[in-house]
Amino acid sequence: MSEPRWDRLLLNATLASFEEDAQEPLIEGGAIGLHRGRIAWTGRMDNLPAAPDELAVTVESVDGALITPGLIDCHTHLVFGGDRAGEFELRLNGTSYEDIARAGGGIAATVSATREASEEQLYAQSVPRARALRADGATTLEIKSGYGLELETERRMLRVARRIGRDQSMTVRTSFLGLHALPPEYRDHREEYVTLVCDSILPELAAEGLVDAVDAFCENIGFSREEVRRLFERARQLGLPVKLHAEQLSDLDGAALVAEYGGLSADHLEYLGESGVRAMATAGTVAVLLPGAFHVLRETRLPPIALLRQYGVPMAVATDCNPGTSPMLSLRLAASMACTLFRLTPTEALRGVTVNAARALGLSDRGTLKTGQRADLVVWNARQPAELCYWVGGGLAHRIYVAGEPVSRRKPSRHLPNAS
Ligand code: NIG
Ligand code: FE
Repeated sequence: MSEPRWDRLLLNATLASFEEDAQEPLIEGGAIGLHRGRIAWTGRMDNLPAAPDELAVTVESVDGALITPGLIDCHTHLVFGGDRAGEFELRLNGTSYEDIARAGGGIAATVSATREASEEQLYAQSVPRARALRADGATTLEIKSGYGLELETERRMLRVARRIGRDQSMTVRTSFLGLHALPPEYRDHREEYVTLVCDSILPELAAEGLVDAVDAFCENIGFSREEVRRLFERARQLGLPVKLHAEQLSDLDGAALVAEYGGLSADHLEYLGESGVRAMATAGTVAVLLPGAFHVLRETRLPPIALLRQYGVPMAVATDCNPGTSPMLSLRLAASMACTLFRLTPTEALRGVTVNAARALGLSDRGTLKTGQRADLVVWNARQPAELCYWVGGGLAHRIYVAGEPVSRRKPSRHLPNAS
């Protein structure tokens, strides 16, 4: 018998590849070979080049289960101190998100709690959130800073994000969100704050290797186009890609601005107009839809899905996991809500949490089941892709592989009492 070639071979699978040019979007009676952290082979079992035992060291049947690429949550703020459950009640009683922000609550409240938290405390509070997202199938997460708004705390947040990526069997991509809100101590010194972020905080954190992309909140209660432009100029000098919270509460033409800089994504987009859609299509900027924030803010204005489709703008879907507008810990729930609230088809929503989410992070090595891609996979307690959007809540992920290795379900360590 010849030497086994692959580390692992999964048989009897229903494979949803999400490849653009896949001949068959769904392969039943499929097999997938994993080797050295990559996908070595996919196709029908009938077409396997030899007997399974000759092909791989470990051979397992998944009994007809659906296998997808590991899900990718391309927009989260999951490292933060405290919570804002009180604000949730205020909003239910009619106070708006903007009113709360103007009264010094909202993002500023989380900034105070985050500044007070040590790196250990932030890590201990954030890991259970990352693990909850992973338990429902996410193997790659983006995590933003933006609750420090000064060098030390922004650094601490990004270090915690990196540490989650190192220690928790998932990939973490970081975004620097220094222009998230004006910190209280700069209330009368806007320009100085923007200068500090552009000329000092961002370059320093980038030099420390903590920043994969640069983001901002372009909004009346956030930062203007001109201020965001200054940040994007600096990002360009530093060779960092940009993305933007754009058109969430009003239309400031932020999507066109981020597209002008060749941005990876424009996110939220409820107030996006046709010129912005056109600019995004031209630049190849991904539209990241965040139904969790739409739902929690009880927004009624829908993102322009028909226009995004018409112009061929790729759509991603993410949780926006954050303590204010979207305390959401399931990317599959976000995909489900993208269908029910935004009327995406299940296929669009699932492309939104796989291949298009990878693109929104500038990653081309994941998000499909193509040979050569990273072997991040989920074996689901489901037989067809639509079920991933159809079931609301519940644990559907049966087994998760990260870089070809099954993620262990061992109990979390002592200092994480809340971890799932
Ligand atoms: O994506 N809109 C700005 N940023 C976050 C909310 C942050 C917060 O309220 O803490 C968002 O919705
Ligand atoms: Fe956000």
